[in-house]
Amino acid sequence: TRKKKIGLIGGGQIGGNLALIAVQKSLGDVMLFDIPAAEGLVKGKALDINQLSAVDGYDCRVTGTTDWKDVAGSDVIIITAGVPRKPGMSREDLLDINLKIMRDVAANIKQHAPNAFVINVANPLDAMVFALQKISELPKHMVVGMAGVLDTSRFKFFVAEALGSSIRDVEALVLGGHGDDMVPLVRHTTVGGVPLTELLPQDKLEAIVKRTREGGAELVGLYKTGSAYFAPASSAISMAESFLLDRKRILPAAALLEGQYGINGYFFGVPVQIGAGGVEKILTPQLNDSEKAALEKSFQSVKKTVDSVKL
Ligand code: APR
Repeated sequence: TRKKKIGLIGGGQIGGNLALIAVQKSLGDVMLFDIPAAEGLVKGKALDINQLSAVDGYDCRVTGTTDWKDVAGSDVIIITAGVPRKPGMSREDLLDINLKIMRDVAANIKQHAPNAFVINVANPLDAMVFALQKISELPKHMVVGMAGVLDTSRFKFFVAEALGSSIRDVEALVLGGHGDDMVPLVRHTTVGGVPLTELLPQDKLEAIVKRTREGGAELVGLYKTGSAYFAPASSAISMAESFLLDRKRILPAAALLEGQYGINGYFFGVPVQIGAGGVEKILTPQLNDSEKAALEKSFQSVKKTVDSVKL
């Protein structure tokens, strides 16, 4: 079988880390694409990563490019083209500028890589992945947004820290939009099979939920010139890997809902199965009334942003 091809659209902070992790995991050869103004940046990152491949013997290569033709034939595309937040900004504040970029990116994907599995990372996440699918006209099962893996990973980290236990045994799920009213499902969280609600008092649980919801802003506040990039890159790679290796992992991701959760025609964060067929399944766990209400609140924020998108 031929080596897989991974197209990374945007060679900034997240894009560079995506390229590095893809090579270190031997997922495939990487095309690191950016605009002409960033040609030196992507060619430099490609050369730098290729030069580290000798150290541990990686056989995959990175190419920096500003030509969409080089992206053609990608099995997976991950989009990080767009502007990150600065302190005090919400993800929604990025809508106008990043939508302009997404129009360009989505039209080029339609033209050059209509068969790829496409993962969007650009913010505001749920609106950008909606625009991506509408403009590119790719089939709904081949387009997803990365947010839930990152939000869940943040939540699991805070849980493991609070318990002083290994993060390996924390099982959790964060549902909903990638915003301050995302819904960490505390009731469904287990640590080594033991319900989290039996391990931590209510006030601790509430503090962890709050810190998870504001997890992105906490990083923006620390970095000041941009937003998180290590954990977002790893999170997107786990989705790409599940597709490329047909792992069929169940991961939270923004997928197009058509009636599930009472939502129709919007991308929203829910557990999905990702395999060689793209989004192969959408799961719908039973929620109680307060979880349903929290999810509805999150959906209303997503809907407000998406409805303001003029395509
Ligand atoms: N096509 C391709 N790349 C583009 C385009 C375009 N039309 N417009 C901008 N870019 C590139 C920029 O040149 C830059 O190199 O996107 C890259 C973005 O990189 P960073 O500014 O470092 O941003 P990053 O931290 O990687 O975040 C990217 O992901 O998490 C989200 O909110 C974040 O929307 C932001 C995106």
